[in-house]
Amino acid sequence: MSNEIKRIAVFTSGGDAPGMNAAVRSVVRTAGYNDLHVYGIHRGYDGMINGSIKRLERRDVGNIMHRGGTILKTARSEAFRTKEGRKQAYDSLMAHDIDACVAIGGNGTFTGANIFMQEYDVPFVGLPGTIDNDIYGTDYTIGFDTAINTAVEAVDKIRDTADSHNRLFFIEVMGRHSGYIALHTGIGSGASSIFLPEIDDSIEELSEILTKSAKRKKLFNLVIVAEGNKNGNAMEIADKIKKLNPEYDTKVTIIGHLQRGGSPSCFDRVLSARLGFAGVNALLDGKSGVALGVVNDEISYTPFEDAITKTKTLNKDLVKMAEILAL
Ligand code: F6P
Repeated sequence: MSNEIKRIAVFTSGGDAPGMNAAVRSVVRTAGYNDLHVYGIHRGYDGMINGSIKRLERRDVGNIMHRGGTILKTARSEAFRTKEGRKQAYDSLMAHDIDACVAIGGNGTFTGANIFMQEYDVPFVGLPGTIDNDIYGTDYTIGFDTAINTAVEAVDKIRDTADSHNRLFFIEVMGRHSGYIALHTGIGSGASSIFLPEIDDSIEELSEILTKSAKRKKLFNLVIVAEGNKNGNAMEIADKIKKLNPEYDTKVTIIGHLQRGGSPSCFDRVLSARLGFAGVNALLDGKSGVALGVVNDEISYTPFEDAITKTKTLNKDLVKMAEILAL
């Protein structure tokens, strides 16, 4: 396969994640080293459909490794969900003589690539780029480390004011379906409780925890809420607790998109460099239809089908540990 691949395209898709630029840089430079021509597709699958495709040279990816967001821009494409959209995308790739693609994104990105590959004979590899860390087949996704560090930094600041006023803070972090961000932020910031999408926590239990903590003279509490948890958003949970315990001075902070921006951590830069390098080499080795990742510090290759249908489960031991340490 390697002698058939002369031109590859790279794109970012779905929610941006810090480290995507470092991954693009790695793809471009690894490809250049192997005498491949690289094209950058702007705005993910939408750009593939519209033919927004431009040559990327080594110098085009200079001075981007430390930057958050994605220089290629991104989108959540509705058009690519349609057969017509995918046909247009194929035509654009062919118009630029693209032999293979490196897709950087999350579950939706890999689902799109998987469907496209069933219809058209274009090799794809995927690099896991999402702050959610919810991709099956990799211990870490690009952007997760930066996002949890940003969230912990924010919670540390909230802790100061919570402590000063003896307040109960509910802090909402991202993660519609996955509690990784909430769990790590909660452990890293010493939260009293963590509401996760994967676990049925009850408001009554939280009320008991807070009562016990008051008896132990704990005067302020931080509760981390993953946006996808079943009890509602941070505001709703705060309201429910206020009804049970009107004596608490409750406040709510939604960290929101702050977590997605900013300069990537060194961990994310190194991870992105490794995945970009391995992604291009995987294509040259004839691999296709796989999502790359890192498992036990080794590069892993997971078929798209598994990466998108299997669920990466939360480490229940960490959940238990967080509960014990919060007591
Ligand atoms: O998938 C990454 C993520 O940041 C989720 O944590 C969050 O639920 C979602 O994207 C928000 O997406 P958008 O920015 O499109 O509203």
